[in-house]
Amino acid sequence: MKKRLALSLNQNQSKNLEKVKTMALILGNYEAKSVNGSLKKLDTLSKGVLKKLIRRNELQGKLGQSLYIASLEGTQAERVYMVGCGKKTSTLSKDQITKILSSIVRVAISSGVSEVSVALPSLKTKEGDEWILTQLSRILEHQVYTYDAKLNKKNKKVNKLKKVVISLSSTASDTKLRKAIKVGQTIGQGSNAAKDLANLPGNVCTPTYLASASKAAARNYNSLSCKVLGEKEMKKLGMDCLLSVGAGSAQESKLITLEYKGGKKGDQPYALVGKGITFDTGGISLKPGATMDEMKFDMCGAASVVGTLQVAAELKLPINVVGIIASAENMPGSKATKPGDVVRTMSGLTVEILNTDAEGRLVLADALTYVKRFKPKTVVDIATLTGAVIMALGYSTSGLMSNNDNLAKSLISAGENSTDRVWQLPIWDIYQKDLDSNFADIANIGGRAGTITAACFLSRFTQDYKWAHLDVAGTAQYKGAAKGGSGRPVPLLSQYLIDNS
Ligand code: BES
Ligand code: MN
Ligand code: ZN
Repeated sequence: MKKRLALSLNQNQSKNLEKVKTMALILGNYEAKSVNGSLKKLDTLSKGVLKKLIRRNELQGKLGQSLYIASLEGTQAERVYMVGCGKKTSTLSKDQITKILSSIVRVAISSGVSEVSVALPSLKTKEGDEWILTQLSRILEHQVYTYDAKLNKKNKKVNKLKKVVISLSSTASDTKLRKAIKVGQTIGQGSNAAKDLANLPGNVCTPTYLASASKAAARNYNSLSCKVLGEKEMKKLGMDCLLSVGAGSAQESKLITLEYKGGKKGDQPYALVGKGITFDTGGISLKPGATMDEMKFDMCGAASVVGTLQVAAELKLPINVVGIIASAENMPGSKATKPGDVVRTMSGLTVEILNTDAEGRLVLADALTYVKRFKPKTVVDIATLTGAVIMALGYSTSGLMSNNDNLAKSLISAGENSTDRVWQLPIWDIYQKDLDSNFADIANIGGRAGTITAACFLSRFTQDYKWAHLDVAGTAQYKGAAKGGSGRPVPLLSQYLIDNS
């Protein structure tokens, strides 16, 4: 995976801040009326500059605030930034720490220099210093991401920041802290790999492209292997439901399997199943034109599978993981599936397709049946499945639905830990009747609770194993000026696998 930054730990730096030779020294400081802690020495060396800044209310230390000092006498740094860490006495929540770390990263990137040193004071948290470094490294790698794959050479974006040296006041061993940095950076790289796939346009990122990108990822690691099924092979397996989605497209549908073997031979794998609709026009139930371009992001579930498998391989997690990607392009056309058409799934159940725009569940139904052959320990599917999840949870939180409470709990906790959060919605039996059909075993739409009925549809195919469904329609992409893949839920999935390692 592409590493965008050189990140390293140097604990000596915190002990002698005045000696750090750097283009930009970024220091965390507490909210205080007087100079305290490690800043005392810098204040003395600078003949009271910091004291003066505090007196003038310019250096306040409020959470996330930042202050630029063009040059601080007595230091070897070309410039100094102070980033506020709030009141020293209060225990900081994950969100507060994240706010501080995000400010540091923003300052590091906007400083415009190629190399910075970050020195964090000891921060009071429940999570601990390793968590802080993992989070900082992940955010750094995530924020330096740029996408310019399709730009003319002269318009390529140059990412100035190349190197970050980190230190923090901690009693943890350097080995542990270095490991924490490596974990965070690797998760950031995994997110970025997912963003790269997401951001490619639909005319480039087709099911065939996703297949070759998966094969390319597998070539980079001995522990990763990839197998691709085309339409002929899927037809033989009885995957008419999956195939019905790509029927109107000139692009061949693909079922991609990415296997990571880091555990013992007989260890049951954790399965991740991704929705890989490389473009969703809605099909014959055509979508409106406004923002339809964003339906190139309808393969973000698939992208998160590729990204997470690479994280597992890079971190050499001692488990087995299998990733399945169900990929098709949803197009209208003379061969396209029509509302009212009935298709048979690999499981044997027949489906009346009342709306061809509810296609994600159709490709997932067959993939979720196919995954049984791997005898998975748990199965998590990831899909930009419904617009309704945005109505329920907005753009910050993914929807979680599951047939197993323990699995749901561990995903909620991995989401908390990685600040890539999910919230559980019910899939009680009362919703199941919304899928009744007069002409087939089930219909592909029904009822008013769109996110829940979509999950209920999937639940018909997942009864033989522990299963959870992540609806990431609101979280997998950024909207507006920052339009692009977000890399989510790679942090959540990576943390889930790490927690099970
Ligand atoms: N890919 C869409 C869901 C989506 C919507 C993702 C907005 C990202 C942003 C999905 O295939 C879809 O079209 N779902 C329909 C289902 C409906 C027809 C029951 C929807 O949400 O409108
Ligand atoms: Mn759709
Ligand atoms: Zn879709």
